[in-house]
Amino acid sequence: MSASDPMQLGHMAAEAEMVKAFLRTKHPVELSEAEIADLKARITARLRAEDAVLVAHYYTSPLVQALAEETGGCVSDSLQMARFGHDHPASTLVVAGVRFMGETAKILTPDKRVLMPTLEATCSLDVGCPAGPFAEFCDQHPDRTVVVYANTSAAVKARSDWVVTSSIALAVVEHLAARGEKVLWAPDKYLGSWVQRQTGADMLLWDGACIVHEEFKAKGIEDLRRVYPDAAVLVHPESPAPVIALADAVGSTTQIIDAARRLPNPQFIVATDQGIFYQLQRQVPDKEFIIAPTAGEGATCRSCAHCPWMAMNELEALLKCLDGGPAHEIEVDRELGARAMLPLQRMVAFSREHARS
Ligand code: 13P
Ligand code: SF4
Repeated sequence: MSASDPMQLGHMAAEAEMVKAFLRTKHPVELSEAEIADLKARITARLRAEDAVLVAHYYTSPLVQALAEETGGCVSDSLQMARFGHDHPASTLVVAGVRFMGETAKILTPDKRVLMPTLEATCSLDVGCPAGPFAEFCDQHPDRTVVVYANTSAAVKARSDWVVTSSIALAVVEHLAARGEKVLWAPDKYLGSWVQRQTGADMLLWDGACIVHEEFKAKGIEDLRRVYPDAAVLVHPESPAPVIALADAVGSTTQIIDAARRLPNPQFIVATDQGIFYQLQRQVPDKEFIIAPTAGEGATCRSCAHCPWMAMNELEALLKCLDGGPAHEIEVDRELGARAMLPLQRMVAFSREHARS
């Protein structure tokens, strides 16, 4: 790979953003019970006053997830977040997650105000796939249908034919392959190669990765399975192929929770961000969940199964964002948004037609 390689530029940008995020999240603010109760009450009142609804991802803190549920919002995977925001009548959406989730909400509903606790909450997949180099890559392969993961910027989505999330990636690529289309896939190489193995589709992959899921280690999971012989392994498809190969179920965050409910095993080894444990324990209380190991012997762990950008969704930031202001409001250029809306709407329509989502 040369220094002028479009994918190499993405790697360098992702590394720089990651360092910034870790520096910020190394010192989380500890709150007392009384402070938490006070913040929750103030946020609830502000949500009501602003005609706002809270839309949170499973990887945010238990406090944020509980608040979303208590206030009539939603906690879900990225596809359901997009659909919930689109369908809900509130004029303001408060998105607790990472930036691409806020942008997706704004693109799908440009007339709503979309606020986020911080616009700095990015994603290594998004940063690792800059719009300019990505467009260059697409231009080199005009014969391919461009399918991008939702974890991308508005500009990358605008250059695509289809947007997918992990819950419908397989179904969409199967559909395209059945029509004889060749696919250019970006940015997650692990999710892309899993879809390729499952569907047999002709896919050309961008070289991006999620810094959280990339850390799960097959050897550690095999060792853990010897300790818990009755446990099933649940894996998010952003994980490397040797980890996916050990899975009893592979799927999006929602599909992981569904599998925990459906499978008869008393224990589960879970290879995804540890934020999901809050919902797993609530929704499937009679079973035990064990986090999959993230570092092999002698290796260092950078994310330790928790996304540093998801961790930025703290209660104080949530309260502050309800006062609006440029540091919290998602803006997407109208013309760019209109182009990105087409592949996003295609995704939403496809997901409504397919039971797998
Ligand atoms: P889901 O679509 O499964 O929620 O995944 C989003 C994500 O960022 C996983 O790392
Ligand atoms: Fe991105 Fe990975 Fe964080 Fe999900 S967990 S938002 S893919 S960096």
